Amino acid sequence: MTLQLRVYVPEHPLIKHWLAVARDVNTPSILFKSAMSELGRWLAYEAVRNWLPTIDTSLQTPLAQCSGTFVNPEVPMGIVPIVRAGLALLEEVQKVLPLASVYHLGLVRNESSLEPSCYLNKLPEKFDEETRIVILEPMLATGGSIMLAMQEVTKRGIKPELIRIIAIVAAPPALRQLSENYPGVEIYTAMIDEGLNSKGYIVPGLGDAGDRAFGT
Ligand code: PRP
Ligand code: URA
Repeated sequence: MTLQLRVYVPEHPLIKHWLAVARDVNTPSILFKSAMSELGRWLAYEAVRNWLPTIDTSLQTPLAQCSGTFVNPEVPMGIVPIVRAGLALLEEVQKVLPLASVYHLGLVRNESSLEPSCYLNKLPEKFDEETRIVILEPMLATGGSIMLAMQEVTKRGIKPELIRIIAIVAAPPALRQLSENYPGVEIYTAMIDEGLNSKGYIVPGLGDAGDRAFGT
């Protein structure tokens, strides 16, 4: 597959560790949710590198004058968690981006057609066009859900170049769709898996992320 897409799989032992915990079928729901949050935090840390707007300034320490760099609080930032499974990542991602507004988007796949539908949309009518958006979509499977999320965000005035997607596991069908439609977007994931089974689940994957995170 030739991808016109920037997909990053950060090499980090903690990312590998928490992915293995999340994949393990014997991991109980409470620990699964912790693994998802940890992965959310580390992937967010990588995703905002060279992307968070900063301001250079000079400041006074207790001992001397020196230069310093702060995150620019004036550039609007947004986090779009795809409910439900994206909620498992939200709290830790908010620690990385404490000034970001949170815009929930509730999507669910039809179990037979695998088509997503939207049951909750807290996106604003229009974004300030400078807003940087991080979408939390833990499972990029067929790509139906992320494509719907991208449409909803971009039609409100955000260029794909200002969007970063955090996914725990990504599969080729979703990456292909993103590549064909939004080559400017960047994706940060713990792993690119082999493919999907006949029911649209990622293999080897980690099962149903929403059910496992919320014990349903
Ligand atoms: C899961 C997952 C993604 C979606 C990905 O959601 O959390 O949102 O499937 O699949 P796709 O790429 O084929 O669209 P699900 O519909 O199971 O809802 P849930 O998060 O409430 O469990
Ligand atoms: N959604 C999930 O939760 N898991 C998959 O493997 C695919 C879609």
